[in-house]
Parts: sequence; structure tokens; C-alpha cells
Amino acid sequence: MNMKKILVTGGLGFIGSHTVVELQNEGFDVVIIDNLSNSSLDVLQGITSITGKAPIFEKLDLKHKYSVKEFFKTHSDIVGVIHFAASKAVGESVEQPLMYYENNLNTLIYMLDEVCNLASSNFIFSSSCTVYGQADEMPITENAPVKPAESPYGNTKQIGEEIISDVCRVNSNLNAISLRYFNPIGAHKSAKIGELPIGVPQNLVPFITQTASGLRDFLSVFGNDYPTPDGTCIRDYIHVVDLAKAHVVALQRLLKGGNEANYETFNVGTGVGSSVLEVIQSFERVSGLKLKYQFAERRSGDIITAYANTDKANSKLGWTSKSTLDEAMLSAWNWEKKIRGL
Ligand code: UD1
Repeated sequence: MNMKKILVTGGLGFIGSHTVVELQNEGFDVVIIDNLSNSSLDVLQGITSITGKAPIFEKLDLKHKYSVKEFFKTHSDIVGVIHFAASKAVGESVEQPLMYYENNLNTLIYMLDEVCNLASSNFIFSSSCTVYGQADEMPITENAPVKPAESPYGNTKQIGEEIISDVCRVNSNLNAISLRYFNPIGAHKSAKIGELPIGVPQNLVPFITQTASGLRDFLSVFGNDYPTPDGTCIRDYIHVVDLAKAHVVALQRLLKGGNEANYETFNVGTGVGSSVLEVIQSFERVSGLKLKYQFAERRSGDIITAYANTDKANSKLGWTSKSTLDEAMLSAWNWEKKIRGL
């Protein structure tokens, strides 16, 4: 058994919790830091119930530099850090830019400062396909240019990547990978953990499942006059468990010293683009329900099409996404039914 100790910040969040499960399944010892600002302690029970093992949990806010320092004093045997903790609502970031820069960048700086002092400095960063904006070519490779960010949230991902790259340049002990996620959806097949959006969901899939469960009257499909086959926007929707597994293989690459440079970026998507209408059809197929939806105005800031070229992750990480859109939508629906008691 591999009993290496890994720190997962934001480990009670949507992607973090699924990654903790996959890490524990691979025999890693996991320590979670979470400030519970957008998550719940129930998630810890869900993880424990799936894996049969309770991760160590510390409620801590990474904005408190001194607490971060103290934490690492008692956990100097950590051999890898997966850093999820961040704020992620695009609209909120436009309203409260300073909060976003503080939450997403100060915390990253404090973490990197500590990680550089570890005997084993391995770091994985949650980045996003948002760094590409509307890319000129599909599918999007890692070499596509980074476009000006549409929001402070997007900017924190771009600046975050630059900070890591700059620190890696002068610190050859530090090994880091940024994973650029496409659109994560779905839930663990046990329906014991999943996405818990606070308030009205901004993302498509939780809005669909909440509409089907009766929490919302109907889904607004933002725009049906885009230059796509059915007029709706196209995204690359990846099952969160596949995404979680990408973190495990990225970490293993660093632990084995198999990385080709001490800073690397990888797209994590399925390589398949699906339109909003195709996602709705998938939901209707797997749930056997008819979804109430209406066409509405385009949402400002939406890009038309984004899907990944995943060749780099396929060949260098030995990772591919396995789940189909239908499987991901079914897991999202099973999770919604579970939390609504349906
Ligand atoms: C959004 C964020 C992106 C972030 C990602 C995380 C914006 C502009 N972008 O991306 O920065 O990294 O979430 O998952 O917010 N849609 C509807 N009706 C809805 C909700 C969404 O039609 O009620 C459509 C959108 O117009 C889009 C697609 O569904 O075409 C996906 O939307 P969403 O889930 O919000 O993801 P992104 O816009 O890709």
C-alpha cells in the first residue's frame, strides 16, 4: 500500500471531494483543508462512507497566512498538494473583484510559499478552459493562446498559472501541473457526494436537475441563434469522476519524477463537444422525463464553442475520460433525486 500523505485544499467541494475519494482508493493518505464557505461537513461523511476511511480534516481559511504556516509545521511529511480551494462564481467575481483576487491569489501565494519548503514539493493547480476564451481553433490544444479574461474569476486562473510558472522558473525543486478543466458535471455513482450549488445555479447541469426536481420552473436556454448546428452553445462536459482521476495520475507523474518540465499544463476534457440542446436531450433520455425549457437571450460573456484536444493528457498522463454524456447526466440526476428525497 502506498501511504503517501497528500493535502487537498477545498477537499469538501465538488471536484475536491471526488478527488479525495479517488486518492484514497489509490491508497494515498489524505488531509483536507476547507473553510466550509461553500461546502458542508456532510461531505466528509459521504467520502468516508464510499471509501471506508475518514480523511484527516482541518477547518482552516487559507487567507490566514500564519495558520497556513502552522499547519505545515505539523504536516511537514506531505508529499503533494492539490489546490482546489477558490471562489468560482463568475458573476460574483465581477461584483466583488477584490474578494476574488484575495481568495484565489493570496491563498495560492501562501500555499506555494509553504510547498516550496517541503522536502517533496509537488503541486497541482485547478485551472480552467476559461483561460482560452473563444479559441480560434477547435479542438483546443494547450498551445492555444491565452485570451484576455472576461471576468476577475477568469483572471485569477490566468494569473494563478503565471504565478506558478514564475515560481517554478526560479525553484527547480518545485514540480507543478495546472489542469485546465473543461465543464465538470455529474456525481459519484453511489450518490453519496455530488455538486451542492448554493442559491440559484449558474451552471447548466445543476439548473437542469433542479428544474426536473421541481425547484425551478423552467430552464432558460441562453441563445439559439449561435453559429452552431442547432444554434445553441457547445461545451465539453466531463464526468467529475473522470476529472478526479486525472488529478491522481497527474500527481503520480510528479511523484515518479516523470514530468518533462517542472511546470506543465494539461487540458482535461472529453474531446467531445455537446450543445445545450444535446445536454437536455441526454437528460431526457436517462431520466425518462420531459424538461421544461424556453429559449432566452444570449448570456453576456458566453463563448460559442469550446471543446478540448486531450492528446497531451492521453499520451503523457496515460489518462482518458471514460464516461459518456448520458452516464454523467444519469449520475447528476441520481444525486439530485437523493438530495431532494425523490
Ligand atoms: C462557466 C463559466 C466559466 C467556468 C465554468 C465552470 C461563465 C460565463 N463561464 O462556463 O468561467 O469556468 O462555468 O464550470 O459563467 N446555459 C443555459 N442556461 C443556463 C445555464 C447555462 O443555456 O441556465 C448554457 C450556457 O449559455 C452555456 C452552457 O449552458 O452555453 C454551459 O454553461 P455553464 O454551465 O454556465 O458553463 P460555461 O459557461 O461553459
